[in-house]
Amino acid sequence: MSEIETASDTGSAEEAPVFPAPRSSSCPFAPPPGLLALRDADLPARRVRIWDGTTPWLVLDHAAQRALLSDPRLSAGIGKPGYPHTTEAMKVHADEMQPSINNTDGPEHARWRRMLTSSFTRHRMEKLRPAIQHITDDLIDKMLAGPNPTELNEALSLPLPSLMICELLGVPYEDHEFFQKHAGITNAVNQSPEENARTAGILRNYIAQLIEAKMDDPGEDVLSDLGAKIKQGLLTMEEAAPLGHILLVAGHDTSANMITLGTALLLQHEDQLTALRTNSDDPAYVTKAVEELLRYLTLPHLLARRAVLEDFEFEGVRIRAGEGVIASLPAANWDPQAFPSPEELRLYRRASHHLAFGWGPHQCVGQQLARIELQVVFSTLFRRIPTLRLAADVADLRFKEDSQAYGIYELPVAW
Ligand code: HEM
Repeated sequence: MSEIETASDTGSAEEAPVFPAPRSSSCPFAPPPGLLALRDADLPARRVRIWDGTTPWLVLDHAAQRALLSDPRLSAGIGKPGYPHTTEAMKVHADEMQPSINNTDGPEHARWRRMLTSSFTRHRMEKLRPAIQHITDDLIDKMLAGPNPTELNEALSLPLPSLMICELLGVPYEDHEFFQKHAGITNAVNQSPEENARTAGILRNYIAQLIEAKMDDPGEDVLSDLGAKIKQGLLTMEEAAPLGHILLVAGHDTSANMITLGTALLLQHEDQLTALRTNSDDPAYVTKAVEELLRYLTLPHLLARRAVLEDFEFEGVRIRAGEGVIASLPAANWDPQAFPSPEELRLYRRASHHLAFGWGPHQCVGQQLARIELQVVFSTLFRRIPTLRLAADVADLRFKEDSQAYGIYELPVAW
């Protein structure tokens, strides 16, 4: 028998543990214990069974994930053989899905990234910081003037990133209830393929109408830029609308979940919260704290997923064309080799090498925006409301295990 591991060495389809594993109710902020228990010092990958009975490779280690997520033999193409789909809806509609930024590879993917590069540079995002601070202060003023206790998603977590992404894309904020509701439906793991397609279609039509209007009357926003590219023949509406849809959904739902989860987590760690409040004027401290919160919570808990394009051997495991790979980002961020004592929340640790924004060519386009939003919120919220506390037991909170972005459905807070 060769030195190289085969499927049977690393678990057959019948033996393969189920992915994703459930979270522990006593520690809902931590990755599932059953996931972390699969880590094996000798093997970089092992088979797991996902919802459709297929058995892709699961990669847990930080170093292995960085290597694989930048390997061109792995594809983000959701229609490629072996791609481990997150949901039934994704699998059923994989072949009809328009090529876009999140499901293409190589030069085709680079073309999509180039379309957004200038809109999301660190410099441009940094220029938004004063507006983000202003909106955050305004929302906190309203929160303080309103009912106590209140629900944090409604009061702060959703409005801030929604306002910002609306401003960037040129989407009217008055429509926030409409797009937040539809984003929630498309992100749900258990949504039927029909409902998912219907909802995604509604959002894409909505974006297409906005782009069409901006082609006649452009503004300084991303949808106007896409409209201009259509006019120049560089892009079609069939391509532009799904891209706008991805940006709108990814641009508000992720940051919103991080604000709510991060607040709840900090309220469980009095010592860390006190340190953050004390250092809230120190940008270096706040920057580090946000990286640690991103690491600890890793809200894209079901990502990242790829299809294998050609056979290769990876650190003793033979991986074949047509198989799937899941790089579990929460597991990488709790890898003790990369982050000593990962279960300890230490806001001042060096955590910026976390993989919460992914790794390789598909690394998050909106990460600078998300970082600034989180830095502003976490340095402002606890300074402005030092008595902020949870108005519910953690055991009674509903965590979003059934959504593609982990979070908390409602977070009642009081002060
Ligand atoms: C805390 C907030 C966020 C987190 C944790 C997050 C996480 C991620 C991750 C893990 C990926 C890579 C997925 C993969 O490799 O398959 C990704 C990609 C992406 N994200 Fe984010 N994201 C956040 C905020 C945002 C925001 C604010 C935007 C838009 C303004 C955005 C837009 C995108 C886009 C367009 C992609 C696809 C990039 C590509 O495939 O090339 N994200 N994000």
